[in-house]
Amino acid sequence: MKVISNSVETTQKLAEDLAAVILPGTTILLNGELGAGKTTFTQGFARALGIKRPVKSPTFTLVREYQTDQFMLYHLDVYRLGEEGGAEDLGLSEYFNADSVALVEWSQFIQADLPQAVLVIDLARLDQGETDQREINIHAVGAQPTKILMDLEQRYGTSN
Ligand SMILES: Nc1ncnc2c1ncn2[C@@H]1O[C@H](COP(=O)(O)OP(=O)(O)O)[C@@H](O)[C@H]1O
Ligand SMILES: [Mg+2]
Repeated sequence: MKVISNSVETTQKLAEDLAAVILPGTTILLNGELGAGKTTFTQGFARALGIKRPVKSPTFTLVREYQTDQFMLYHLDVYRLGEEGGAEDLGLSEYFNADSVALVEWSQFIQADLPQAVLVIDLARLDQGETDQREINIHAVGAQPTKILMDLEQRYGTSN
């Protein structure tokens, strides 16, 4: 699925639609350079799930935890690990379980901890970063992410 977003609102609307079809046990990888919109997407996603606390990037803590009505939501930003290396044995895989939902920024730095099944969201600036335009590509690996992506496509298609 590919979406061209021209505003924060459009990116967060997509995140809201994803929140509406998400299921516990889903791990979402948010890929893209600094400023691409990974945290902005997460903010829209969390807000749609009723999170009132401000959602900030957990750069120093690695993980922030939020309780939704139905499941724990984990927001990981492991950018820091890329600089330091040695992300093994941090026990981060506990956040990727059947009962919760995790969003991960810079997941390439914890490759070994990631589950097989993931929903991958690639965000990229267009126009050399001079505008608010973003290209957002979403693909699924595994059964549950595939179902969620199909539900998202249907929902996004009918709400726009
Ligand atoms: N279409 C858009 N989608 C997402 N963010 C956008 C968009 N246009 C402008 N922005 C801005 O780009 C920045 C994205 O920052 P952030 O979400 O923290 O990126 P990341 O977490 O990928 O480093 C924010 O300042 C946001 O307001
Ligand atoms: Mg971020």
